[in-house]
Amino acid sequence: MEAKRICVSAATSDCEDRAYSLSKEMKLEFSNLPQTFEFSLVVSSSGFKLYYFGGETLTLHLDYSQEMVQNRWKRGRIDLARAVDTKKYTNVLDVTGGLGRDALTLAAQGCRVLAIERSKVLFELAQEAIGRARVERGPWDLVQFVHMDSADYLRQIDERPQVIYMDPMFSLSKKNALPKKELQVLRALLGSKDFDEKSDVESLWELSLKVALNRVVVKRHAMEPILGGKCSFSLTGKVVRYDVYVPS
Ligand SMILES: C[S@@+](CC[C@H](N)C(=O)[O-])C[C@H]1O[C@@H](n2cnc3c(N)ncnc32)[C@H](O)[C@@H]1O
Repeated sequence: MEAKRICVSAATSDCEDRAYSLSKEMKLEFSNLPQTFEFSLVVSSSGFKLYYFGGETLTLHLDYSQEMVQNRWKRGRIDLARAVDTKKYTNVLDVTGGLGRDALTLAAQGCRVLAIERSKVLFELAQEAIGRARVERGPWDLVQFVHMDSADYLRQIDERPQVIYMDPMFSLSKKNALPKKELQVLRALLGSKDFDEKSDVESLWELSLKVALNRVVVKRHAMEPILGGKCSFSLTGKVVRYDVYVPS
């Protein structure tokens, strides 16, 4: 579905070779006329950028290399670290990798994280941004990003992780934790499936409960119902709630 709407382009002529090979690898068209597509993944000397030409042009560019960002992750998002219990559990499978922010937050707390993302475009964006941030060795080495459907991965898993983390998109009616422009791009890219209450979130959660050794953590909007009706405990913030399921 992504193939018809998205092309790969080069920001400048010296990026053309890289952009062309990326387009082949992703089985997407290479184009010098990106505006004729809905999206363009643009290869530039400062990394990959995703352009969305829907009315106003929106751009998604990830930069995880700045010290400021890395330090913020090391200190912040305490509820996520508490929900996973990063002092006790350091082997985490993130089944909704997205842009990799939560995976990096957990890595900054010392966790080894395997993050899986099913959108090839988001996977490439996150993978490239993490690669750039890795130039100076840091906790980012603890994150491995993989492109596939997590449900397929969970069905054929060999080594069960201590913790499975999932952060499905909030349903359309809920105010999202993501910045507004980023959310607009993700909504347009991923379509309604990821934002629909009746999507495959429940089956991913059910599979996760069977596979995780010590806990499953689900990030939800604070107003959304708890998956399955009850969990072991929750950590509730202003916008977000972490529901923790401890297998018996
Ligand atoms: C809200 S985003 C996750 C954001 C992420 N926690 C972060 O910090 O950047 C949800 C992501 O889950 C992905 N997703 C949903 N179902 C999936 C599945 N079955 N396998 C892999 N990825 C999935 C979507 O493509 C989307 O990128």
